[in-house]
Amino acid sequence: MAPGAAPLPLRPAGAAGGRRPPRRRLGPVGAALQLLGGLRVRLRARSARSAGAAGREAGLGTGDPRGGGRAAAEAGRHLVGQPLVRQQVMKGVREFLKNPNPAKPLVMSFHGSTGTGKTYVSSMLIRYLFRRGLQSPYVHHFSPIVHFPHAEHIEQYKENLKRWIQGNLTNCGRSAFLFDEMDKMHPGLIDVIIPFLGPSWVVYGTNYRKAIFIFISNAGGEQINNVTLALWRARKDREEISLQDLEPAISKAVFENPQSGFWKSGIINDHLIDFVVPFLPLKHHHIKQCVINELVQQGLEVRPDVIQEVADSIPYFPEDEKLFSSTGCKTVCKLCDLKHFTDSFLAG
Ligand SMILES: Nc1ncnc2c1ncn2[C@@H]1O[C@H](COP(=O)(O)OP(=O)(O)O)[C@@H](O)[C@H]1O
Ligand SMILES: [Mg+2]
Repeated sequence: MAPGAAPLPLRPAGAAGGRRPPRRRLGPVGAALQLLGGLRVRLRARSARSAGAAGREAGLGTGDPRGGGRAAAEAGRHLVGQPLVRQQVMKGVREFLKNPNPAKPLVMSFHGSTGTGKTYVSSMLIRYLFRRGLQSPYVHHFSPIVHFPHAEHIEQYKENLKRWIQGNLTNCGRSAFLFDEMDKMHPGLIDVIIPFLGPSWVVYGTNYRKAIFIFISNAGGEQINNVTLALWRARKDREEISLQDLEPAISKAVFENPQSGFWKSGIINDHLIDFVVPFLPLKHHHIKQCVINELVQQGLEVRPDVIQEVADSIPYFPEDEKLFSSTGCKTVCKLCDLKHFTDSFLAG
């Protein structure tokens, strides 16, 4: 069997230590718990099945400040330029966790162009919710290139994915499933998880209403950028941009684009996404903040000339005004490294 056709190793229900799918780490852990604005509600493991190991693993209600929560809160202060992300994610997670008996799982979809912080925020969230963050056995991270590389095996992938989610929700109702790079997902594949996203009480004998699903996608990014630019030209402040300004363009772009992973998907049709979270394109001063964050994180001197040079070396659009970074903060880490290396080399 070709490697891509290999079934996802399904963890047997009730055995938390089972094998896990190969996982790409999400980018450097980051972002927002300013995003979560002091949200201190922790997951509570109520389900009989998940009350034990799962509860402890998730740091449920322990208030342990040494866990991922503090790191995430710390990182959260560094999220820049994403007012809607703070609002939406904060609202979504807070309401969901406050409700001991949610009617459906929490389903969020992150959209925006590259380097605007989608992976950063999802990683932060997971760190906040699960003591071991992305290493938690209750966090499942899928990337199409790694897990579903071959279009010809789509039927096998569908079956595996369904079994994987079902098995892991049986094991822990408070599991989280991240689907990164949705725009690279084969059309139709994701629809196999529809039964787990809706408001039904049980599916295949499992209560799955406490699960969290996060989709991450570049799809809709261009539309978000265009709307943000148009609003900037109309002198609308970035902080005033509302979800209503962006949502129609995102939904259209995502639903009508065969490269979005949600092409004609029942997930959109049936309104199964609770929060569409738009990531706005970042401006020059946001990039400078990313450079500062990076220098601090690398333990390097925070010099104004370095900040300026790195921020200036990134491409901006549109051609005339050069307002927004074409690559967000994506290349900042590499550029800081390079700058440090060059400076050290020249200094002898
Ligand atoms: N809005 C932001 N605020 C602070 N840092 C950011 C932001 N966006 C991106 N970064 C930085 O850039 C890196 C790459 O961003 P990432 O989240 O991987 O982008 P993408 O949106 O493509 O997933 C992050 O790890 C983080 O260091
Ligand atoms: Mg990403």
